[in-house]
Parts: sequence; structure tokens; C-alpha cells
Amino acid sequence: MTSLSNGPRPTEPADLVDLFTRLAHHRAHEPVVFNESIQAWEAFSHQDVTRILSDPATFSSDMSALVPSDPDIDKIAKGNLISIDPPLHRQMRGLVSKAFTPKFVAELAPRITEVTAELLDGLAGRERFDLVHELSYPLPVIVISEMIGIPSSDRETFQRWADVLLNNEPPADEPLLDALGDQVAAIAPTVREMGAYMLEHVRRRRVKPTDDLVTALVDTQVDGRSLDDDEIVWFTALLLLAGHITTTALLGNTLLCLDSAPEVVEDLRADRDLVPGMLEEVLRMRPPFTKLARLTTADVELSGTTIPAGQIVFAWLASANRDESVFTDPEVFDPRRESAKQAGFGHGIHFCLGAPLARLEAKIAVNMLLDRYRDIRVDPQGEIDFFDVHALLGAKSVPVLVQPR
Ligand code: HEM
Repeated sequence: MTSLSNGPRPTEPADLVDLFTRLAHHRAHEPVVFNESIQAWEAFSHQDVTRILSDPATFSSDMSALVPSDPDIDKIAKGNLISIDPPLHRQMRGLVSKAFTPKFVAELAPRITEVTAELLDGLAGRERFDLVHELSYPLPVIVISEMIGIPSSDRETFQRWADVLLNNEPPADEPLLDALGDQVAAIAPTVREMGAYMLEHVRRRRVKPTDDLVTALVDTQVDGRSLDDDEIVWFTALLLLAGHITTTALLGNTLLCLDSAPEVVEDLRADRDLVPGMLEEVLRMRPPFTKLARLTTADVELSGTTIPAGQIVFAWLASANRDESVFTDPEVFDPRRESAKQAGFGHGIHFCLGAPLARLEAKIAVNMLLDRYRDIRVDPQGEIDFFDVHALLGAKSVPVLVQPR
């Protein structure tokens, strides 16, 4: 985040550059394709991506019919809002939204500020550190653990779960259906461990309520219906995973974007009201989830191509977000851009429930970094470690150099 940044630019992983080239090629020439190697369809234009995400009746989020049945894995479906279709989705989302209100999130601001300050206080006197290890990972995981009511000191365990569950992307050149069986087998032990941990917590709260989110979920009722243990366990597990690693990615991606746009850092320092727009722009250019999967329930036409029923379709958020017909100069990182159409949080009924929380955490963290450091930049001598870009667009490690005020 500096105009002084004069070292070599941080190298992007080669497969990220390749990915954006491939997406641009498809937008221009083949906006909907059947990918032979993975035996699944892909859609690249903003129009098709939003169409897919707006039509859950034709593009289902429930993939359970495709994966081999496993008693423990099957339970996930009960609370995993992301993979539930209407009409159940509406009921579940209504129930959990009652506990996860904008007021509930806004009230977290003082605590988020306090945690961010404590983490940065711990770095006093240091001019070189890893932004992800010291801030972008611990901040969201502490916040989400406290919300759920589980000890944030268990975060190494949460990180291990996230590594197994989110870094388990099927190989890009193997038919998806073949790979799904192996995937289920690979994640089953972690799923069992996570389920047992959360179940213990839910049972504790049923007998000893507090003011955490799990207590609120236990108490929530709509039309006389309340959530059962499996629903609370797997909804909370989803929050724990979705609620930290994506925000970690957003904060790391923010630093990488700002490091290559020193003029934007100057603008932010002059006008902090630009911070929220800048964060939307990071999500547009580097959405942590690059694509979302859906299953067709009927034959459907997209951009003149007919996709038969029963097919997996990937809606490429990372491509929609750079669609030239929607975003002028899409390769330019512009914090003043009208970004309402960026799809980094998804679109339609599954639009990210945690978006207000992620935005709040990132805004507080960026403002505090700008307050505390007159200069912060990616360490040209350090090495950035990226996740597999097909699993998550983000970094596991971003070494930085800082100059405190
Ligand atoms: C859904 C991205 C942070 C909880 C989603 C979806 C995306 C997304 C793309 C849509 C999935 C789909 O349609 O299949 C992100 C990004 C984040 C972030 C980029 C951070 C920068 C969070 C946080 C939480 C959270 C902090 C919770 C504390 C959820 C939940 C859903 C969801 C519960 C499912 C909503 C539904 O199916 O109705 N997120 N998310 N996310 N996200 Fe996030």
C-alpha cells in the first residue's frame, strides 16, 4: 500500500494468469461450453451467470444425488443452507436469518475493532510480518468462533478442517462424477470430527444457554417449527468454514491489489469513504469463490446452447465480474466504480448471508492498517503462498514490510 513500492511485483501463480486468459477467451468466443475433461458445463457471461443463480428451479444447488451416500456426509445436507433448494431453503434461511440480523452484525463492530487492535499491538516494533498469519487468518476466525460460542483457541483445529474441506477440489482434468466419490471418502473423517465437536457444543447450549448465535438458533421458532440438532450443527459448521477462510482471502487479496495500485492507496488515505468501494472492487477482480456449481433439473437454453437436464453447470463468478459488457475497463482496479453488479458474494436466493460481516471486518482491518502504518507493501524478498486457484482465489501467506507511523 505505498507509492514507495519499487521492488519486483509479487508474482501471481501462473495458473491464475492462465485462468483469467481462459475466461476472457470464453466470454468472447464460447460463452457456454461443455468441458469434456471434467464432463460438466461452464457459463462465462455476466448475463448467464446471473440467470443461473436467479433460477433455482432449473439450476439446483442440491448435488446430493450425485455423491455416494454416507450416513455422516448425508447429515450435512440438513443444515448446509448453501446446498438446499426452495421451498426448504426459504424456511431455513428465514430461521437462521432471525438469529443473524444486520443489528446482530453491526453490534460486533466494537469487538472486531478490539480484536484487530490486539492483533496489530502484538506486532509492535516489527517491520516485517506475514499479514495472513498475523491478521487476515486470526481476525475472522476469532470473530466467527466468538459468534458461534466456541473457543477461538481451537483455531488450529478449524484451520485443519478448512484445509481438508476447502482444498479438496477435484482434479481439473478428471470427470467430476468420478472424482466426487474419492472426494467424499477423503473428507468423511474430517466431517465426522467436525460434526461431533459442534454437536457437543449445541447440546451444551440446550442445557446452558448464553448470548451466542447457537443459543439464538436453539431458541428460534418460525410457525411453531424450530431447528433440530443436525440442522444447527451443520449450519454452524458452514458458518465456521464460510465465515473465516473467505474473509482471510479477501484481506490478503486486498493487500495484493493495493500493492499493485499505489495511487489507490493515496486516494484511500485522502478519503476513507472509498474503502467500502475498494473492497467491492477486490471482490470483483479476485472473488475468493471463482465459480459456483449447480445441477440442471430440466433441459435449458443458455446463450443459444441447450444444456440437458441432470448436468453439472459451473457459473463463473470470476468471469462475470470481468465481463466487458457490464464493467467498463474491467481490468482496471477502480474503487469509485459502480460495483453493485459484482458477483463475488453470489446472486439470488443464496446470496452470501455473511456479506455484511465480511464487509465490516475487512473495512475495520483496512482502516486500522492505514491508521497504523504510513507504508505497507508486499515484501519483494518474501514468497506469497497461494491456495490452489481452482479451490479458493486467495493467499495462505503474504509477507509484508511496514513502516509504522
Ligand atoms: C453464501 C462468498 C463471507 C456465510 C455465499 C455464496 C458466496 C459467498 C459466493 C453463494 C454460494 C452459492 O450461491 O452457492 C463469500 C465471500 C465472503 C463470504 C467472498 C468473504 C469475503 C461469509 C461470512 C459468512 C458467510 C463471513 C458467515 C459468517 C455464508 C452462508 C451462505 C453463503 C451461510 C449460504 C447462504 C444461502 O445459501 O442462503 N458466500 N462469503 N459468508 N455465505 Fe458467504
